[in-house]
Amino acid sequence: MAINGKPRKIDYESWSKTELVKEIRKLEKRKKYGLIWDEDRTKEFFEEEVQKKLPILKEILSKRTGNKNTQDHILIEGDNYHTLSVLNYTHSRKIDVIYIDPPYNTGNNDFIYNDRFVDKEDVYRHSKWLSFMSKRLKLAKNLLKKDGIFFTTIDDNEYAQLKLLCDEVFGEINYIATIIWQKVYSPKNQSKRISVDHEYVLAYTKNIDFVDFNLLPRTEKMNKYYKNPDNDPRGPWASGDLVASEERKKGHYIITGPKGDKFDSPDGKHWAYSEENMKNLLLDNRLWFGKNGTAFPRIKQFLSEVQQGKKPSSIFLHEEAGHSDEGKKELKTFFEQSENLFSTPKPTRLIKQLLRLCMNKDAVVLDFMAGSGTTGHAVLALNQEDKGNRRFILCTNNEGNICTDVCYPRLKKVIGGYVSSKKIKIEPLDGNLRYFKTDFVKSEPTDQNKKNMVEKSTEMLCLKEYCFEKVIEGKQFKIFKNNNGQYLGIIYYFDGIEPFKQEVRKLNQKINTYVFSLSNYVDEDDFSDVDQLVNLKPIPSAILNVYQRIFAYVQTEKLSRKIHP
Ligand SMILES: C[S@@+](CC[C@H](N)C(=O)[O-])C[C@H]1O[C@@H](n2cnc3c(N)ncnc32)[C@H](O)[C@@H]1O
Repeated sequence: MAINGKPRKIDYESWSKTELVKEIRKLEKRKKYGLIWDEDRTKEFFEEEVQKKLPILKEILSKRTGNKNTQDHILIEGDNYHTLSVLNYTHSRKIDVIYIDPPYNTGNNDFIYNDRFVDKEDVYRHSKWLSFMSKRLKLAKNLLKKDGIFFTTIDDNEYAQLKLLCDEVFGEINYIATIIWQKVYSPKNQSKRISVDHEYVLAYTKNIDFVDFNLLPRTEKMNKYYKNPDNDPRGPWASGDLVASEERKKGHYIITGPKGDKFDSPDGKHWAYSEENMKNLLLDNRLWFGKNGTAFPRIKQFLSEVQQGKKPSSIFLHEEAGHSDEGKKELKTFFEQSENLFSTPKPTRLIKQLLRLCMNKDAVVLDFMAGSGTTGHAVLALNQEDKGNRRFILCTNNEGNICTDVCYPRLKKVIGGYVSSKKIKIEPLDGNLRYFKTDFVKSEPTDQNKKNMVEKSTEMLCLKEYCFEKVIEGKQFKIFKNNNGQYLGIIYYFDGIEPFKQEVRKLNQKINTYVFSLSNYVDEDDFSDVDQLVNLKPIPSAILNVYQRIFAYVQTEKLSRKIHP
């Protein structure tokens, strides 16, 4: 246990023999290989606090911004541990891509743990960071679809630890790659020994069997090597090798060039095509014997015939993925004094490049360390570029007012259009932003607390169903709708059931209906006359059951006796 951020020294002298034996047994059980850190001495303050309260979300309606008829995007202000807990109820296995850019734990005031910056001298420095990350990654993994992808940036301070941690959380087999991102465009001469010009992006998936990546768009630099010196009507081409290594019996035969020169494959190599195919290539004017027609032949590879993209490389150069300064400049277009607001934004091009790898253009993208909101910006910009329908969910705490003064205003400007600090008019990007804050309800499962939880869970349920437009508000019930014509009903207390059913009959639409129940069970007989129209789910038990899984202390024993099939 930590006091004022410093671990308490354990007074083993005062322990009884039984206590000591218990402790030894516990220590013996610890794993012998892999990542070990001191979890017991690096607990977060809220781990005790939350025993009395459970997280929920509250929408700040005054901060909704954008076009209501477009895609809903979500920004959540609060600690990501609480947000991820709520998302475990609302978005379990619904997220396609998680991208995070956590504090790198440099020891230079970038990582706050238990309300204090963790400095270089702190002996529990790595343990604190690992405790912080492991709790969040475990919650985050539950949110990924089976083919979901997880990206996290990191630098040398915690790369090794994070790789092992992710191997543990996602499984070593689900590791995709470590991408090297060139974060600077020229080496830093003032560096002591080596100019470290890169950071890493670790990529994992929930299940490697289900994941494939897109090809990336070809760059102008790549295409520049394609020329057309013989004015071939098929357009520009680049020449490639006609011979392959290794000696092969049938790999030697004579090719005659346009000027009568005879060529055979060199010793130890072979022609890469059979004699028959080579003849066809020659007839089709696909062999190149140099400008004078006398050089050793090569094959013409036409730009129009090469793959429509390039395999993603594990090296992201700044020309394609942006660099750190670019991230800062981007932020400056929104806020003149951006250096004082936030100093380590990523460039949108980096995140766009990562999102381009993912096949699904309708992806739900989560960033729970959102900082200045670059991920949201990148999602909106990429949707505009490739006509995608991606939706983002961002979460950040409000450290240094990053959420209220940077992330939210930035996204508001991106969505609404704005005049940059250089007086350039920037067109709006399509989207509707909803702003939520984490809040809490009492956790003890008394009837009164359960009723309170249901009342306060409205926004969570709207988020779960992406149904935000309230169409009917009656006595103890509400009905919401979304742009896709889906409905959500919430019944807050028993006497809301009858008036709700009257409205359901009038609407004559299928409605996902969350019904207050003191148990784990909704009495379906109460809805027998509208059973074709309602899909019933008991609350708060459905929420409490999820919280019971993630917070060991949540008491739901009263509920667990009556589990509805
Ligand atoms: C390195 S920054 C991310 C920067 C972001 N990629 C960008 O481009 O602006 C990490 C962010 O995580 C936020 N953060 C740190 N701990 C957090 C926590 N427990 N819950 C929510 N956000 C947190 C910090 O406020 C910080 O803004």
